[in-house]
Amino acid sequence: MMQYNERRELKIRLATENDVNLIYHWRNDPSTRKYFFDDSEIEKSNHEKWYLESLVIPSRHILIAEYIECPVGVVRFDVKGNIAEVDIYTSPGSRQQGAGTIVLEAAINWVKKNLKNVEKVVAKVKPQNVPSLRVFEKNNFKHDYIALGLNIND
Ligand SMILES: CC(C)(COP(=O)(O)OP(=O)(O)OC[C@H]1O[C@@H](n2cnc3c(N)ncnc32)[C@H](O)[C@@H]1OP(=O)(O)O)[C@@H](O)C(=O)NCCC(=O)NCCS
Repeated sequence: MMQYNERRELKIRLATENDVNLIYHWRNDPSTRKYFFDDSEIEKSNHEKWYLESLVIPSRHILIAEYIECPVGVVRFDVKGNIAEVDIYTSPGSRQQGAGTIVLEAAINWVKKNLKNVEKVVAKVKPQNVPSLRVFEKNNFKHDYIALGLNIND
């Protein structure tokens, strides 16, 4: 198994139109979807529409992390005022080998450098999503509020 522990091999770049399929496959993989609040399978055409629109929303920043030139993770920031909400996933084949930890770290550094008005980054994580909780905790995120949800139609 690979270990993603050489931080200098990790590069962050902005996502482009060319990443549409890569992001579709990672996001639609059952191992990714099961931890999302909306875990349904995504239609390709819906994804393409969402993605291409996302690329031009000024408050949305989608980053691709590459390790030794190979894409390994996607991080999205949605900025409202001085708060950025983060969403992260790594390639299904790379999980639990340290990638998520350094991808999040590099993405936060990107925010510090490029989004000077952002003062706080928040993440919504399902309580059972231990790998995600660990990755945020290892990057110094604190449990500073609890979000509760009610499904009206259940
Ligand atoms: C969440 C995600 C980005 C983490 O990336 P990753 O590359 O797997 O993370 P890492 O390998 O850097 O770290 C995972 C940590 O979780 C721990 N972990 C993984 N599975 C675990 C389990 N079942 N129980 C306890 N700890 C677990 C690992 O041991 C590691 O912690 P450690 O370094 O303290 O040992 C990735 O798993 C992913 O894309 N998941 C699907 C999408 C998702 O849930 N995104 C987050 C939405 S908020």
